[in-house]
Amino acid sequence: MTVTIIAGARPNFMKIAPLIREIQSRPEDNIHFRLVHTGQHYHENLSQVFFNELGIPQPDVNLGSGSGTQAEQTAKIMVEFEKELIANPSDLVIVVGDVNSTMACSIVAKKLNTRVAHVEAGIRSFDLSMPEEINRMVTDAITDYFFTTSAFANENLRKSGIPATQIFFVGNIMIDSLVWSSGKLKQPAVFKTQHLNPHNYFVATLHRPSNVDDSENLKRIFQVIEESAGDMKVIMPVHPRTAKMLSGINWTSDKIILIEPLGYLEFIYLISNSLGVITDSGGVQEETTYLGIPCVTLRRNTERPETVTQGTNELIGDDYPKLRESIIGIKSGKWKRGEIPELWDGKTAKRIVDILSRI
Ligand code: UD1
Ligand code: UDP
Repeated sequence: MTVTIIAGARPNFMKIAPLIREIQSRPEDNIHFRLVHTGQHYHENLSQVFFNELGIPQPDVNLGSGSGTQAEQTAKIMVEFEKELIANPSDLVIVVGDVNSTMACSIVAKKLNTRVAHVEAGIRSFDLSMPEEINRMVTDAITDYFFTTSAFANENLRKSGIPATQIFFVGNIMIDSLVWSSGKLKQPAVFKTQHLNPHNYFVATLHRPSNVDDSENLKRIFQVIEESAGDMKVIMPVHPRTAKMLSGINWTSDKIILIEPLGYLEFIYLISNSLGVITDSGGVQEETTYLGIPCVTLRRNTERPETVTQGTNELIGDDYPKLRESIIGIKSGKWKRGEIPELWDGKTAKRIVDILSRI
């Protein structure tokens, strides 16, 4: 069987790495893959670093789509991926996550009558103001094989009429990367330069348009974090979308330390040793739940509700008094303890490849 694996943006790389490693370790299964990088992310620290650190082979092709508006980026990926798939047909296109590359490539594949497998299918925020929710809905409307992370995802798919025979509850592949990385983590330079000690600092990551695209909003979030953190430093690896906004708002602080986006092994080291995390990332909500680190999410909803009901995550939306209260609560040790959701066990890639070998 030949499969085409798609990756394009930062959160895709830690999802394809375990899958590729598993396929490569089982030559007897005769799964031959072609790796396509759409080029959605191209900054060294948002792309190449993950290939180096997670042992992902260099892509067979990079479609070079780059940035643009929602439509421009999606269209560029579709035009280039159509040429690619016509030139290199395959039995199955595997897409992961919910970024524009995920939706664009699944549409192209299906229109070329190629089957589609979606890893991380079925999750929903029910918030159509997020481009990711549209990507999830469109991708899942044309997917053939749904690999899911949670009972919530299974239920959403069943409710939308997907037959149970097409839904495979395999667990969370992000956690495969997390388990694999244990013992390989690297201390980032900021640890020494800022004299950090385990559990005496916070980490913040923000990149959702709803938080960072409005400069007043972003300023307000920074002010609240700065005021509530007290004598603790807050280390913030800055996504390029956020960097663009920050360059316009004249922000200076000796408490919120802005650094370049980190590689995976350094980022996981940083959050693993932190007292708590403030984020709007999807993946970081899951990683903190697995690691048992308190997580405050600046979103009103989440497509990963098990991180709240079972894990260490709390949603605070744009309720700034609650943000302050949460940071102070974490500092005084008042935070819920979580548990690890079912099948977040580091063996998801194995379960996926077992299924691929049967179909
Ligand atoms: C994308 C995903 C989002 C995901 C995030 C992970 C979509 C709709 N959004 O958002 O779901 O959470 O990636 O990080 O697919 N830029 C660079 N260098 C790069 C990439 C981007 O400078 O390598 C800058 C560009 O100015 C670009 C902006 O960041 O316009 C946004 O990039 P884009 O890929 O459109 O969306 P993200 O915000 O990264
Ligand atoms: N991440 C990283 N370096 C950073 C910030 C995040 O390696 O500086 C990793 C993080 O561990 C997680 C993934 O990137 O696995 C999440 O990506 P992101 O927050 O960009 O996207 P989302 O999950 O919100 O779609």
